[in-house]
Amino acid sequence: MSHRERYQKWEEVARKYKLDNSRIATFELTIQNTLKLLGNKKEGLALDVGCGFGHIDILLAQKTNFQIIAIDISDIALENAKKNIKEAGLEKRIKIEKGDVYNLSYPDNYFDVIFSFGYVSAASYQKVAKEVARVLKPGGLLILDYINHHCLYKTPSLFKKFRKYKRGELYPFNVKGIRKHFSSVGLSFVSKTRFNTYPPIFGKVIPFKLYIFFEKTIGRLFKKILARVILVCFEKN
Ligand SMILES: C[S@@+](CC[C@H](N)C(=O)[O-])C[C@H]1O[C@@H](n2cnc3c(N)ncnc32)[C@H](O)[C@@H]1O
Repeated sequence: MSHRERYQKWEEVARKYKLDNSRIATFELTIQNTLKLLGNKKEGLALDVGCGFGHIDILLAQKTNFQIIAIDISDIALENAKKNIKEAGLEKRIKIEKGDVYNLSYPDNYFDVIFSFGYVSAASYQKVAKEVARVLKPGGLLILDYINHHCLYKTPSLFKKFRKYKRGELYPFNVKGIRKHFSSVGLSFVSKTRFNTYPPIFGKVIPFKLYIFFEKTIGRLFKKILARVILVCFEKN
């Protein structure tokens, strides 16, 4: 897919984007789990690859001391991210820039942490690992998410992905496959966690706190088969 085709695809996605309580719960849970994986590392320069409307950057800025550069390929996403960040009064902490993960405009060894979220995040794409690793400092962390393929809610999408594995278009999104993918560019696996176990339905009416309550109760017991997201953390050697 060319840069232009990628751009058009994601502009279309951004045009149709709707925020509901299910997504708000996902953002909250993404941050809670990211903070766990970060451990003591809560300051320095961070890059968010594929920031979308900036919701997660706002939470991250509120809960850490990172200076954040948030990039996206979509102009519509970036306009919305700018607006949301301004409303949150965080323009000094979060800088929005247009960028394509296939060709990052930053020097080598530049960021302390790189984040990328959104159920199969932009940093997880097949041919970008080397570029993402290039801009990360040695000892820096990469935290990104994938769809959990053991998740019952996601079974139909699995069959589509399986055909892509067979054709060699994707690497396997299980922990073994993800580890192998990043070890080839000098990133070592640190830890993983799974979340988003609540049923992703009735997002307009159910308060987001109820989804989080499900996550902390029933969801905890059935994480392996209900969690839709797997979040992984790597360190640059
Ligand atoms: C699934 S959305 C996730 C957005 C946000 N991180 C979130 O969790 O709400 C993926 C985002 O990555 C952006 N994206 C896709 N391909 C990209 C690329 N090659 N470079 C930079 N951003 C890209 C899309 O425009 C979109 O905003």
